[in-house]
Amino acid sequence: MIYLNGEILPTEKAQLHVSDLGLLRGYGIFDFFRAIDGQPIFIEDHLDRFHNSAKLMGLPIPESREKLREIIHEIIRLNPHKLLGIKMIMTGGYSEDGYTPSPKSNLVVMGKPFEFKPADVGMKLMSMEYRREIPEIKTLNYIVPIRAIQQMKTVGADDVLYYQNGKISESSRSNIFIVKDEKIITPLDGALFGVTRKHILNFAKNHFTVEERDVSTQEYFEADEVFTTGSTKRIVAITETDKHIFGNGGVGKITKKLQDLLLEEEKNNR
Ligand SMILES: Cc1ncc(COP(=O)(O)O)c(C=O)c1O
Repeated sequence: MIYLNGEILPTEKAQLHVSDLGLLRGYGIFDFFRAIDGQPIFIEDHLDRFHNSAKLMGLPIPESREKLREIIHEIIRLNPHKLLGIKMIMTGGYSEDGYTPSPKSNLVVMGKPFEFKPADVGMKLMSMEYRREIPEIKTLNYIVPIRAIQQMKTVGADDVLYYQNGKISESSRSNIFIVKDEKIITPLDGALFGVTRKHILNFAKNHFTVEERDVSTQEYFEADEVFTTGSTKRIVAITETDKHIFGNGGVGKITKKLQDLLLEEEKNNR
């Protein structure tokens, strides 16, 4: 069952018209989070970011925050899975001239069963010179990394690492952290303010020195450990980038500790 513009509909009936501005011009935002055993994880942070993305994009949200929270709980109730991925999507609505946003946004809330990859499996990245156009907004636009899927397959990479002007920013759908001499560092500029990133920064400072600042590509490749974070991944070790292997090519000791701490943090936030 899917929420679409004020109604809850069976999945096959939830359809948007082809004049939707998200389809025609890519003008739209979304947010994604999980519900575990019916309990949404970090829901208030995701509502905050969805509202912020909408504001920065100039998109009016047709429902109040309270109503949106109720809709999410209803979608969780109607899609009873142990692990559910919830997506809120909002576009510029049905545009009369195919360009100007409608005063009425199109709003969708949907839930799909979800699975995590095992925490001891790392990822390999391929660096790519790019910076998302408006990094603080979670827009619908992922054309650059999607276009790179074929190239990634050719070089044996699982995802991309964005860099520009000698500084790294993030991966296609997750934030990046490096670990050097037990210090945890994550870029501040050019990255989405990930909800997972925010929680890690919060709890990691009780155990380690934590810095939010520019990270050069050189510093990246000299890191002891690298990991990536996001709602779909939690914390995943980056074992390799452009054939450079970090540490012993497995999950580093600090990455492992943070993985455990994040599970605790999730439990405390349900
Ligand atoms: C570009 C980008 N950066 C970072 C993230 C990680 O954010 P979060 O931890 O809120 O999932 C995501 C995914 O949401 C993303 O799309």
